[in-house]
Amino acid sequence: MTGRADAVRVDRCICRSTLFEVLLPRAKAHGWDLADLMRETGCGAQCGLCRPYLRRMLQTGETVFHELLTPEISL
Ligand code: FES
Repeated sequence: MTGRADAVRVDRCICRSTLFEVLLPRAKAHGWDLADLMRETGCGAQCGLCRPYLRRMLQTGETVFHELLTPEISL
């Protein structure tokens, strides 16, 4: 086994080129939920692939993910 744990790394909204580690402090400072974050930053509001990661980030404080989360169809 060689480096498979690092094969997956999700740490940003690609559509908005914004790292989760930048988004989390903003969300905490303003008390944003996912809908607020999407409205204020545009992250999660385009292709939506980062949305499940944003949701988990808000729940757990994680900003780097090493697993693929299932895309959400809607909020
Ligand atoms: S990757 Fe975040 S909206 Fe597309």
